[in-house]
Amino acid sequence: MNSFHIRDFFDKFDPHTNLIFWISMVKESLKLIPKNQEKTILDFGCGDGKFLHLYKMMDDFKEGYGVELDDKLLEAANKIKTSDMNYLKYSQEFFNSKKESFDVVYSQEVMYTIKDLKAHAKEIFAILKPDSYYFATMGSHIQNPLWSLRREEIRKDYNEEKSHYFAYDYSLDEVASMFYEAGFEVGLKRLPLDYFMVYHPKLTREFSNSLYDLTKTAEEEKMLFLFWKPYKK
Ligand SMILES: C[S@@+](CC[C@H](N)C(=O)[O-])C[C@H]1O[C@@H](n2cnc3c(N)ncnc32)[C@H](O)[C@@H]1O
Repeated sequence: MNSFHIRDFFDKFDPHTNLIFWISMVKESLKLIPKNQEKTILDFGCGDGKFLHLYKMMDDFKEGYGVELDDKLLEAANKIKTSDMNYLKYSQEFFNSKKESFDVVYSQEVMYTIKDLKAHAKEIFAILKPDSYYFATMGSHIQNPLWSLRREEIRKDYNEEKSHYFAYDYSLDEVASMFYEAGFEVGLKRLPLDYFMVYHPKLTREFSNSLYDLTKTAEEEKMLFLFWKPYKK
């Protein structure tokens, strides 16, 4: 489906997920990649797998992959998968078997959870076809004024084993430099938000102090990286 209304999404997806960021990331990416093409795409850190379903409402792909570390999330993703979707546990073997296989890779708010971001940049570079893109959003960076609060929450959950990922400190320039060193051309912009930040009496306060702070920081600090793997010389 190429034209859509937010109602179409809200019928299918919980608005307290990262839905609005997924929509914006796909919209921005479609300014650079051909639409409705036979693509193979990857959602790195796919959580419960809904991003690929959202993607299919906005564009199309031949094959969609999602990789995750967390078994429970993978189980949830596999429950709702369609025949053109594959959800797999992260492994180096998978990456070794997929050299120059992907037309586009996405990750929504995953990079701050990765300890060795240099290795991540290299592995994504290796699986992309030449002249292809990796789009990655990042609101969790040290320049974000809410980062210290958010980092505390995420690390607390991790230490209490309520969550399976840690929060690492990166500046946007550190990230840019690591991906540049891996061979990418690197671009950065704010992620334009097409829809509304949705209020939740508990979640909004816990994560962001207030709806005002959440909206302000999402508008100002949520970034979209563009990592372009150049043509082969
Ligand atoms: C903050 S969540 C974001 C999930 C999802 N992208 C979204 O937009 O809702 C980050 C996810 O990345 C996953 N992740 C972190 N490192 C990973 C890795 N090396 N391979 C696969 N998934 C990873 C974590 O398990 C976690 O589920």
